Amino acid sequence: MIKRVRKAIFPVGGLGTRFLPATKSMPKEMLPVVDKPLIQYAVEEAKAAGIEEFIFVTGRGKQAIEDHFDYSYELEETLRTRGKNDLLAQARDVVLGAGAIFYTRQQEPLGLGHAVWCARALARDEPVAVLLADDLILSRKPVLAQMVEDYDRVGGNLVAVMEVPREHVSRYGILHPGAERGRMVEVKGLVEKPKVADAPSNLAVIGRYILQPEIFAHLELKQKGAGGEIQLTDGMARMIGHGPFHGHRFEGTRFDCGDKVGFLEATIAFALDREDIREGLKRRLGALLLDGSK
Ligand code: G1P
Repeated sequence: MIKRVRKAIFPVGGLGTRFLPATKSMPKEMLPVVDKPLIQYAVEEAKAAGIEEFIFVTGRGKQAIEDHFDYSYELEETLRTRGKNDLLAQARDVVLGAGAIFYTRQQEPLGLGHAVWCARALARDEPVAVLLADDLILSRKPVLAQMVEDYDRVGGNLVAVMEVPREHVSRYGILHPGAERGRMVEVKGLVEKPKVADAPSNLAVIGRYILQPEIFAHLELKQKGAGGEIQLTDGMARMIGHGPFHGHRFEGTRFDCGDKVGFLEATIAFALDREDIREGLKRRLGALLLDGSK
């Protein structure tokens, strides 16, 4: 029987050094794309996929994330007395249900696999979704919901995948692909950040996963992989051959918000997708680009 995915893990313990000084005292996951923090996009995507329990693996200095998903009485009262009902509704909408949100800490930056492992007691014996907020995807249907549709038919493990330029494979977890069926690709192997010459393909894992609870036992081994870190990819690789394991070629455009140019690109793409901003931005961008080309 295929167990429904009800829980999602959000690893948000990273230091965000690439965005210093902005991230000196602010979590990188709170950086806004247009007017919404990165982490809120990920949470909304999880909600749209039917997730009921939200597990954050945080670290020191990340309290702003907890506050963001809580009520803000002072703000709400001010918006109410000023009659700003739309903004009030938005502020209240962000709040996750009582008892549906959990925080645990990754005390040391030992890798993504370790971060996920830190959530083992909260995940219990259920399949979990894992969402990396740095990977922001503009799509018609949210990516996790696309994946859940496949998962509900085939079960097992599922990772979001996309083709990347060959010269970029060493930035990603890379798939050794097998048979293809629709958007699904059978996973025959997984390797974290391979050298270009050693990569089994240019099909990269993007930060959306649906994993069976066995992952925690594999991560428990705490074996160090690429970059000396405990890698989620290595834990997943150990599950290949023990039940269905697929890559899901998602519909949508992915932006790497862990990178400055990717983040700016996302900001512009998401702004252009917004009716209230599009025309104004286009005019100003056009003028800026003309100016810059002088
Ligand atoms: C992580 C994963 C990697 C994956 C990538 C997607 O890497 O380890 O397998 O391809 O996210 O963004 P990181 O970006 O944390 O180095």
